[in-house]
Amino acid sequence: MKSSKIAGLGFYVPEKVVTNQDLTAFVNTTNEWIVERTGVRQRHYFDPEKGETNFGFAVKASEIALQRAGLTPQDIDLIVYATLSPDYYFPGSGVLLQRAMDFRNIAAIDLRAQCSGFIYALSVADQFIKTGMYKHVLVVGSEIHSSGLDYSDHGRHVAVIFGDGAGAVVLSATDEPGKGILSTHLHSEGKYAEELAVIYPKSSAKNRNPIEELQPGGGFYPVMNGQYVFKHAVTRMPEAIMEALEANNYKPEDIDILVPHQANIRITQAVQQRLGLPDEKVVSNIQNYGNTTAASIPIALCEAWEAGRIKEGDLVCLCSFGSGFTWASALIRW
Ligand code: COA
Repeated sequence: MKSSKIAGLGFYVPEKVVTNQDLTAFVNTTNEWIVERTGVRQRHYFDPEKGETNFGFAVKASEIALQRAGLTPQDIDLIVYATLSPDYYFPGSGVLLQRAMDFRNIAAIDLRAQCSGFIYALSVADQFIKTGMYKHVLVVGSEIHSSGLDYSDHGRHVAVIFGDGAGAVVLSATDEPGKGILSTHLHSEGKYAEELAVIYPKSSAKNRNPIEELQPGGGFYPVMNGQYVFKHAVTRMPEAIMEALEANNYKPEDIDILVPHQANIRITQAVQQRLGLPDEKVVSNIQNYGNTTAASIPIALCEAWEAGRIKEGDLVCLCSFGSGFTWASALIRW
């Protein structure tokens, strides 16, 4: 069987930077509260006046990834696009990316696994490559959160965490033994679906778009049981990492670099502590971008790679936890 390796990677965040101080102009919050509880210092927001879109961010990230892989859109056999904030209710953003970059008439799969979206998407892409069906797959995570947050007191604990952006990787078939994606591990536990969710537009409601649900605290905005999410994240992420290590006969100390989903700095620190990893082995960039959901891992991975923190032959571990609940891990020999 073939295996798949990351042949190119890129990310893009919109120009507009919103600091914690900027947020205090329209959110009842403080820089101290946000930094102490989440680690976030600033995030990037899209600018509707510039016509910025979710798939537009994906285009920018994908162009970089393709160029670094030495490929053109014509070489790509499949798009797997993870997002919880698609441009349209339907069709998915994958087809908008397919149109925008002039890909061949290849399949474009939109994938909904929230903060685990990127690892789920990577795993889907990996299966198509391993079976020999496709040679080059574009995997994208892209989000625009800022237009859908509840900036009132009902939603301020959620609103301050999230940011906009996109990351992309090109996954390519390789014959090199022991190289590339070693394994992926995906999980869900739907009994907690409503602990972190956006309920509307709700197809099973008599009126899918009721105006009252647009009020602060309404169902069009994210709800989050923060402490509950926190507790589950710090258990499930180390579990998923250990699962990946054990599947490949490795121990935590064999990890060269851990790229966790950037949910909250305290979650990252708790995971790091449980695994006994030193700071230099753990990527953390939430201070600059906030939580960008499906985009957070490819952005962090790409930044770490650009900074020379990931070298040929390194053992790279990705892990995530998020709404669903979903959680996942991937182990990669770079
Ligand atoms: N600014 C200032 N005060 C805020 C605030 C904000 N943005 N958001 C909430 N508060 C206030 C609350 O009103 C509450 O005030 P009270 O004590 O007077 O009632 C107090 O701060 C504590 O609120 P609470 O929601 O219980 O805070 P918390 O300690 O649970 O911290 C999170 C909130 C969201 C930072 C924390 O629960 C968390 O990190 N959870 C994980 C979330 C996460 O990572 N989600 C993404 C997963 S993919």
